[in-house]
Amino acid sequence: MLKRELANTGLMVSPLGLGTVKLGRNKGVKYPTSFSLPNDQEALQLIHQARELGINFIDTAPAYGTSEERLGHLLKGQRNDWVICSKVGEEFDSSSGESSYIFTPEHLKFSVERSLKRLNTDFIDMLLVHSDGSDVEIIKRYGILQALEELKAQGKIRATGMSTKTVEGGLLALAQSDCAMVTYNLSHQAEEAVLDYAELNNKGILLKKALASGHICAKNSQDPIQASFDFIFAHKGVTSAIIGTINPKHLKANVTAAEKAINQ
Ligand SMILES: NC(=O)c1ccc[n+]([C@@H]2O[C@H](COP(=O)([O-])OP(=O)(O)OC[C@H]3O[C@@H](n4cnc5c(N)ncnc54)[C@H](OP(=O)(O)O)[C@@H]3O)[C@@H](O)[C@H]2O)c1
Repeated sequence: MLKRELANTGLMVSPLGLGTVKLGRNKGVKYPTSFSLPNDQEALQLIHQARELGINFIDTAPAYGTSEERLGHLLKGQRNDWVICSKVGEEFDSSSGESSYIFTPEHLKFSVERSLKRLNTDFIDMLLVHSDGSDVEIIKRYGILQALEELKAQGKIRATGMSTKTVEGGLLALAQSDCAMVTYNLSHQAEEAVLDYAELNNKGILLKKALASGHICAKNSQDPIQASFDFIFAHKGVTSAIIGTINPKHLKANVTAAEKAINQ
């Protein structure tokens, strides 16, 4: 897959990324069906397959249960082959299956050091604020995007951004950082203005839930996967769509469909 630059950060990412919620967490998630976490061998095979297919971008977060820690082991010896995105702000309690949110400077410092340790690395390519939906308030009250810039200056991270849930928040995040992670798919286009702004202003857009967390696949359309990728890649603001699969056949089908959509 031809790599694309994330804004003007110098980071080159594949147009499909690998989402890893399903490597670390199967509680408190909204997928159509329940699932077991893949074992280490299955996860390693999936990562190897993704790499062979030209994917170099992997998305994780402290909120994805054991995902960061597992990637720290699974990516051993191949750190430089991957652009890693992690986050700060959402904390997941595996015993209750619930999330809580914290955006203070103290927590940011703690969280990024913990992510570095868990991921077994001395830098994280992209660090995003993991919003609870009150995007604008988080940015204004905590100055957290400026705090991310300081981490960038220290070399601990290479790009900054925010996973947002509102148009106002997405626009403000893009004005103060390199990228936004946004939901955009065949059944949710409410935040399209954020993609439009990114395209005009050379900012990065990472898509989450491009297949509506799998709910689009159950829709009565002839080929919901191809239709989804045709739709999302028609928007030139999209840098990369992070798809959360643990099924090797789905991974291969997604790369085929994405390449077809991009090259048409
Ligand atoms: N920042 C945030 O707030 C946030 C929120 C949500 C997600 N994310 C990130 O975005 C990633 C993707 O989001 P997501 O996992 O919620 O949604 P998604 O990528 O839209 O959908 C994933 C679901 O679709 C299924 N799927 C994938 N390819 C398929 C195919 N070819 N045919 C049939 N089913 C297919 C997967 O099941 P199989 O495993 O069976 O393929 C999985 O259940 C996450 O892993 C995470 O990294 C970020």
